[in-house]
Amino acid sequence: MKHLAILAGDGIGPEVIREGLKVLDAVAEISSFQYDAEEFDIGSERYLRSGELIRDEEWDALGKKDAIYFGAIGDPRVKPGILEKGILLTMRARFDQYINLRPVTSWHPYVPLKKHFDFDIHFLRENTEDFYIGAGGNLRPGEMRSRMKVVRGMYTLDLDLQAQADPEDEFAFEIGVLSRKGVERFAEYSFRYAAARGDDKVTLVDKANVCSQIYGMQREIFQEKAAEHGMGLDFMYVDAMAMAMIVRPQTFGTVAVPNLFGDILTDLGAQLQGGLGMGASGNINPSGVSMFEPIHGSAPDIAGQGKANPLAAVLAAKMMLDQLGEAEMVEVLQKAVRHSLDVGAVTADLGGKLNTVQVGDAIADYVRNSR
Ligand code: NAI
Ligand code: MG
Repeated sequence: MKHLAILAGDGIGPEVIREGLKVLDAVAEISSFQYDAEEFDIGSERYLRSGELIRDEEWDALGKKDAIYFGAIGDPRVKPGILEKGILLTMRARFDQYINLRPVTSWHPYVPLKKHFDFDIHFLRENTEDFYIGAGGNLRPGEMRSRMKVVRGMYTLDLDLQAQADPEDEFAFEIGVLSRKGVERFAEYSFRYAAARGDDKVTLVDKANVCSQIYGMQREIFQEKAAEHGMGLDFMYVDAMAMAMIVRPQTFGTVAVPNLFGDILTDLGAQLQGGLGMGASGNINPSGVSMFEPIHGSAPDIAGQGKANPLAAVLAAKMMLDQLGEAEMVEVLQKAVRHSLDVGAVTADLGGKLNTVQVGDAIADYVRNSR
């Protein structure tokens, strides 16, 4: 029995998560996968009502679950950043979800490429280091010293920067940091993931020709891990990668990418595969609690109208099943989504006529009939 936490959140979050759970119920009917679900009240309604995001007891309860299934948060009445930082970013840090997994699949015919490529790129974005570590500051005239402290589960880093700043000018800086331990676990996860998918190599994206310190070390460590695992390793510069994703997406399998470049490339990837309604992501800690979500937000413009495409939430549930070791059911869900697209059982954003609930029903039926 798996114990799931359900954080449906705001707007269309609850609408698409309901369909995802409907599909998981169908999976439980035809397989040995069994689960219970505890719902957590998070998001803008609670915040506006009580000023509360998540209490410490709730974080503790979340930490004991096998996985977290997350809808979306965000509301025009709440200042941007409060919910995102207080809930999403805190969760990634608290549970040390150091891998952001984002598959980019050629969901024809919704792919905006002229040529028909069959691709299934799995991006593994490092989620805790690099230029998003929060080590930055200002050097104003007369202020020549800047101290920063980076605290991670794995380490603490005290940075003390002393500079002779030109008093005629003002400077701002943001430091990109990678740690050996951080890159080692990232590389280890990447090669294991690639092997489990049946890939014989990992593609590592970076900008080692310019940011040679951090990405030089990263290359070294990936090379060591490649040898250890007996796997291949390709390097791609991020600018070349952006082009290659458009002209030859079918040549990539498992792609490891550091935090900042990963943020950008995975949004490019989301559009490449057919848009927001088709994109799912996992925030993963392989030895802790991981969180799975559609990449879209709360979509206040269509909330409550039955227009939300639930396929991204279904694909997030599929990734969760994968993490929970249900490989056979992962295949079934993949085929169910493909079938839904092939027969046009889709919502209006994909040109279909069905509403959210009807698409969920169609997927759940397909799953039941696949027994
Ligand atoms: P959004 O992803 O909510 O919506 C962008 C556009 O795509 C809208 O026109 C929406 O109707 C459409 N759309 C999104 N998901 C869809 C679906 N499943 N089916 C059909 N159409 C869909 O992004 P937006 O509008 O920038 O943000 C709305 C709120 O969501 C904001 O408060 C934002 O901060 C938050 N947000 C939360 C995220 C999360 O919880 N992980 C991620 C992105 C945004
Ligand atoms: Mg982004």
